[in-house]
Amino acid sequence: MIETDFIPDSLILDKDHGIVQYTSPSNIALIKYWGKLENQIPANPSISFTLNACSTTTKIEYVKLGKRASDFSFDLYFEGLPKEEFKPKITTFFKRIITYMPFLLEYRLSIHTSNTFPHSSGIASSASGMSALALCLMEMERSFTKNMTDDYFDRKASFLSRLGSGSACRSINGPLVQWGKSNYVESSSNLYGIPFPYDVHPIFNNFHDTILLVDKGEKQVSSTVGHDLMHGHPFAANRFKQADDNLGKIIGVLESGNIKEFMKIVESEALTLHSMMMTSNPYFILMKPNTLSIINAIWEFRETSNTHVCFTLDAGANVHVLYPENEKDKVFSFIKEKLVPFCQNGQYICDQIGQGAKKKVIYV
Ligand code: PMV
Repeated sequence: MIETDFIPDSLILDKDHGIVQYTSPSNIALIKYWGKLENQIPANPSISFTLNACSTTTKIEYVKLGKRASDFSFDLYFEGLPKEEFKPKITTFFKRIITYMPFLLEYRLSIHTSNTFPHSSGIASSASGMSALALCLMEMERSFTKNMTDDYFDRKASFLSRLGSGSACRSINGPLVQWGKSNYVESSSNLYGIPFPYDVHPIFNNFHDTILLVDKGEKQVSSTVGHDLMHGHPFAANRFKQADDNLGKIIGVLESGNIKEFMKIVESEALTLHSMMMTSNPYFILMKPNTLSIINAIWEFRETSNTHVCFTLDAGANVHVLYPENEKDKVFSFIKEKLVPFCQNGQYICDQIGQGAKKKVIYV
């Protein structure tokens, strides 16, 4: 599909008001997206586990205006309270998607949103937040059209989410989502994420992700700036090729259940992401001393315990500890005893691979 396929041709705006609500999860990349072209087109393909516990719930109440407005009309409530400071980001998003959602100027929206994880946890809320919002808008669009297929709904929800925040396009479906054009995945696209189209070995069923909150402070460098620094980065071209090669490798690994190879690819991807940051101009470091202490403790434990626990990182200091369901008791005891002491205020979140976004309330 191409961009223009997402411009609706005939909408019947016969609904005066309605309510839509979605819960959408966060996701954690195994192959990392780092570097982009205009409009959040990724410089390399990526793949992620969809999460379950870390999610955003968004409800939109919409009322038809008397006539088409010249500007967006909406209120925003975060955890029950008006949140003026979030509004510019939403306005920017609406401006980016107006071509694809022309009805946005015909309705007044009341947007209520909340997260399951603490706002200041250092867990990015943009993936779950932008995808939950995009899904609500798609549900509105569905009520204005006849015969929208579920495939089109998901693709366009992912397409819109991407325009809000790149990695958000991987939060619509689960348990694994691939995004970005690659010869290894025939139906892949730079415009939206797709459910992983190949077989997945049962060892990855109910895979665990315990997120260790190492540093809950504001990041020194935002991911927008970080992505930008890949322009002119001396290692960029090789990195983009490496990500694609790793995607090819991980497809085979996910199918065969070769967990040792899985751990190698995933950890290498995490460290490569941070190496790109450390070799940007200007360079920066998002890991903290406790991030490294946790990584070393995981490696030591793995040597001696015959388990298959590994780590990944997103653009921050927190560590995602990944392990299979059948090793959960042994690994979780280790996490509590040896890793939680490195967390800020001992905080961590137990999450698991999830199935994607869920519709909660529709009244149209
Ligand atoms: O979606 P963004 O622009 O916040 O970028 C996310 C980048 C990483 O989390 C570091 C990697 C990824 O693929 O999710």
